[in-house]
Amino acid sequence: MTSAPGMHDQIVHAATLLKAGGIVAFPTETVYGLGADISSSAAVRRIFEIKKRPADHPLIVHFGDASQLRRWARVIPDAAMALAERFWPGPLTLILPRARQVSEYVTGGQETVGLRVPNHPVALALLAELGEDRALAAPSANRFGHVSPTMAAHVHQELGDAVDMILDGGPCEIGLESTIVGFEGQTAIVLRPGGIPLASLAEALDGNVVLADGTRAQRVRVSGSLASHYAPATPLELLAGEALWQRALELRTRRLRVAVVSWSASSRERRAEMMDEKNILNVSMPADALQYGHRLYATLRNLDNDGFDRLLVETPPDDPAWLAVSDRLRRAAHAP
Ligand code: TXA
Ligand code: MG
Repeated sequence: MTSAPGMHDQIVHAATLLKAGGIVAFPTETVYGLGADISSSAAVRRIFEIKKRPADHPLIVHFGDASQLRRWARVIPDAAMALAERFWPGPLTLILPRARQVSEYVTGGQETVGLRVPNHPVALALLAELGEDRALAAPSANRFGHVSPTMAAHVHQELGDAVDMILDGGPCEIGLESTIVGFEGQTAIVLRPGGIPLASLAEALDGNVVLADGTRAQRVRVSGSLASHYAPATPLELLAGEALWQRALELRTRRLRVAVVSWSASSRERRAEMMDEKNILNVSMPADALQYGHRLYATLRNLDNDGFDRLLVETPPDDPAWLAVSDRLRRAAHAP
């Protein structure tokens, strides 16, 4: 990807813009990020303005290599070091006490900072170009509360001229945000399920991993833990099995345009029986959690653009592998 024609020049240009306090959207393996050099308070402030994000919601700081962790975190529990060595570069964000170089305007006033080494050739080339004494604050490149962008075109559509440059690194491989982990002693607390499966974390830490309960997640202000985050504009309902299609028929008789997003074979069979139903679009999603996650946000965006009145989504399997997908869908269904 970095060898695409012109990509190297674009990365050099992006680094120049960032050093001058500009805002550059760039690809990561999870979702596209909206990047600012953390040493520029003006640039970081602009990120909050562009996203329309409350100023007390902390940003994730991205840097180029796990070996630089000490530069950005003041205290590093052994468990955090083990996860950094095992999963970086990768879809894992560690919440650690911030080093002095990480200002409060990046962390929303908190003493901790979210840190991540992204695993995408364009992101890594950009961070290398910036040099190891710099890091990028980068929230997902969408407006606050919306679905994260998984393609450069999504960023264009949503933020367009508000950013100085958009680096196009193709579709994001994972498509859901990073797993966010905090620590209590040597116990890892999963604050947001994401690209790293729970089972992999547990394996790396001899099972010393727990899921945050709602209260704890709220106390550290994970904006992704708001009930109605990650939401499409179209109202979305989560329904299982037969209720899914009953609801579709009911809404259809009220002349609403409905999209049904299903993954199970039984649901597809049910759909086959209803083939003559107009005004009900069926979107078949993969029955594999990773593939489903990869497609989820782009699918929600497309359905938003198509102007449906209601999105009916089949409840995902009750299985740890589906944790991140279930989490995002539950929040999307919660939207006002
Ligand atoms: O995959 C990702 O993590 C993407 C890509 C661009 O890296 N970034 C991302 O950023 O999802 P954002 O800002 O959309 O979500 C970051 C989440 C927020 O829910 C924020 O509250 C939480 O991380 N967070 C950041 N710093 C934190 C801290 N010090 N303590 C608790 N939560 C924190
Ligand atoms: Mg976000």
